[in-house]
Amino acid sequence: MNNILITGGAGFIGSHVVRLFVKKYPNKNIINLDALTYAGNLENLKDIETSENYTFVKADICDFEVVDSIFKQYGIDSVIHLAAESHVDRSIKDPLSFARTNVMGTLSLLQAAKTNWNDDLKGKLFYHVSTDEVYGSLGDDGFFTEKTAYDPHSPYSASKASSDHFVRSFHDTYKLPIVISNCSNNYGSFQFPEKLIPLFINNICTNKELPVYGEGKNVRDWLFVEDHARAIDLIFHEGKLGDTYNIGGFNEWKNIDLVQVLIKTVDKLLGNPEGTSDKLITFVKDRAGHDYRYAIDSSKLKEELGWEPSLQFEEGIEKTVKWYLNNQDWVKNVTSGDYLKYYKEMYEK
Ligand code: NAD
Ligand code: TYD
Repeated sequence: MNNILITGGAGFIGSHVVRLFVKKYPNKNIINLDALTYAGNLENLKDIETSENYTFVKADICDFEVVDSIFKQYGIDSVIHLAAESHVDRSIKDPLSFARTNVMGTLSLLQAAKTNWNDDLKGKLFYHVSTDEVYGSLGDDGFFTEKTAYDPHSPYSASKASSDHFVRSFHDTYKLPIVISNCSNNYGSFQFPEKLIPLFINNICTNKELPVYGEGKNVRDWLFVEDHARAIDLIFHEGKLGDTYNIGGFNEWKNIDLVQVLIKTVDKLLGNPEGTSDKLITFVKDRAGHDYRYAIDSSKLKEELGWEPSLQFEEGIEKTVKWYLNNQDWVKNVTSGDYLKYYKEMYEK
């Protein structure tokens, strides 16, 4: 696998995966295909954009002809597919764009892989990056395993579940070599400030309200994004074809407790007296269909491939808060939309 197509590489998780692969595999060509939607930002990859083994292509995964031509032009022999519409709240407002990108876009990539690899599937791989949200919602006990039945509730998770099924169907029907991973909630640098952690860090810094949905009792299992990227690298190289791997941190937090940790960490790093930002917590109307609890059992990945999260949560959160405090320009560019100019200046000369 020498010519690796990474889709969605200008987004949050994708940029960490691209960076890891470009640096770790100087003899492999990394082709980053991204449409640069509101969530795609080439500033995330400034440090590696001039690397010899890196190419960026602005394209929409739903456009089969363009995707097909990229396969041919770069001799693509493996795919790590991350491009997606990724935010549950947006999916509630605009489900169609989620079906388009997450379902039709995945299908277009699968079809391009199938038609281009048809004659020789040896040494090829289509790696689909998915979410634990396809499994639905847990009560107070239990974990999602690779055998848990799919039960998605939001338009986002329904679209990801559908894409997972299509990926498996190409394996079962056409023998396409695939692997899928389903990961829990990620946090870390370069995450668009619409998701809970970066949104709240930014709001605490700018003294804005922290809108906690419902009573803040919902539970999420948080994983540091660089640990997810490491897991993807491992599964890409050593995962069993046709298999699924769950990735999670065994790190569950009730939203309201997590918000307290964020407040404490930001106040400490800003030199504010403890409790300064507690007043910003505002309980608001609950999200429609809000899944109660996600918790991943990632023991298969540990037992079969030896993966474990590297960071304790408090350490990861402190690292993340420091990154946002030290990269206020990135946050400003992203929230104002100015980052979209970066592409024009760098790539449309
Ligand atoms: P993100 O929203 O930060 O990035 C998505 C990227 O995809 C952006 O760069 C965007 O420009 C690109 N994109 C969107 N539509 C496109 C299209 N039609 N054609 C080409 N590119 C397009 O997302 P993320 O949080 O980095 O998530 C990446 C993947 O990981 C997604 O598939 C998501 O479902 C999955 N995932 C995310 C999490 C999480 O906590 N964020 C957890 C588990 C799995
Ligand atoms: P989010 O980061 O949107 O990820 P997901 O919905 O994929 O888990 O939300 C994480 C949790 O935080 C989820 O239970 C919803 C909640 N939440 C809030 O309470 N307020 C907010 O403003 C946001 C964005 C999320």
